[in-house]
Amino acid sequence: MKRGANIQRIVQEWEKIKVSVIGAGNVGASTAQRLAELDIADVVMLDIVKGLPQGKALDISQAAPMLGYDVDIIGSNDYADIAGSDIVVVTAGLARKPGMDRNDLLGPNIKIIRDVCSNIMRYSPEAIIMIVTNPLDIMTYAAIRYTQLGKGRVFGMSGLLDSSRFASFIAKEINCSVRDISAMVLGVHGDHMVPLPEYTTVSGIPLGDLLEKDTIDRMISRTVNAGAEIVGHLKTGSAFYAPSAAIVKMVEAILKDSKIIVPASVQLNGEYGLEDLCLGVPVKLGKGGAEEIIELELTEEQMKALHRSADAVRMGISGI
Ligand code: LAC
Repeated sequence: MKRGANIQRIVQEWEKIKVSVIGAGNVGASTAQRLAELDIADVVMLDIVKGLPQGKALDISQAAPMLGYDVDIIGSNDYADIAGSDIVVVTAGLARKPGMDRNDLLGPNIKIIRDVCSNIMRYSPEAIIMIVTNPLDIMTYAAIRYTQLGKGRVFGMSGLLDSSRFASFIAKEINCSVRDISAMVLGVHGDHMVPLPEYTTVSGIPLGDLLEKDTIDRMISRTVNAGAEIVGHLKTGSAFYAPSAAIVKMVEAILKDSKIIVPASVQLNGEYGLEDLCLGVPVKLGKGGAEEIIELELTEEQMKALHRSADAVRMGISGI
């Protein structure tokens, strides 16, 4: 093959990689920015508000000469532009205000998810779908129902964010590098989430060897309330820097077929003794999406906590 032809082929393959982000609010726009900076896929940011995705996409594009990313970033109000996406990240929906529980968003956001899912199935039916809209586990379950897509193709981003929050608190407490921490938070993305100190290590050292139980309990409670703590400060919306970092870490793992193991919300079919709902459990991420569910050996107490978490999700599901 002539050199030019080869380059042409590489360019064509490169152009095939495309990630669409539905919603150009704080989470969607931060996700588009982080994705652009990762420089591995063209990005389409879509919103129903006219001008919002176009303006933000232009702004992100104009930083490219300084930061050196060579990907296209397009803002659009037209779902036809998401055609051929490898991954669609759904951030559209209302965010919490102070005093609100994530479940208070169920009514308005379920309608949005239904509409977004029908558009994804119309324009980009081959895509892997990552749900970010709250209440996360219920919206993920609804998206699976609306799209009828098979196991692992639709999942929710939740546990990686909660684990990162837990890890950040641990690093501050111990005064060590965040890079040394491997934290694990399972269960619902809500008040009944299940941080697992027994599956959390600091450079391989079990957390319990380094910190007293009271200190760990305090950090667990801060982790559970971490989203609300930020809403309390911001007053007009919820977190977006850490959520977008979690989204992009998961997108990268899928595009690179890396097989990292992180907690994410997936449909359970008997794993952990649960079925017919979505809940955060460790999964392996690769080009097929959430390719495999990892079943941890949980103590009776941990299993009870996970089932309480499941009850909280079931109550929400019954309302859709
Ligand atoms: C949070 C919201 C985004 O946890 O669920 O900050």
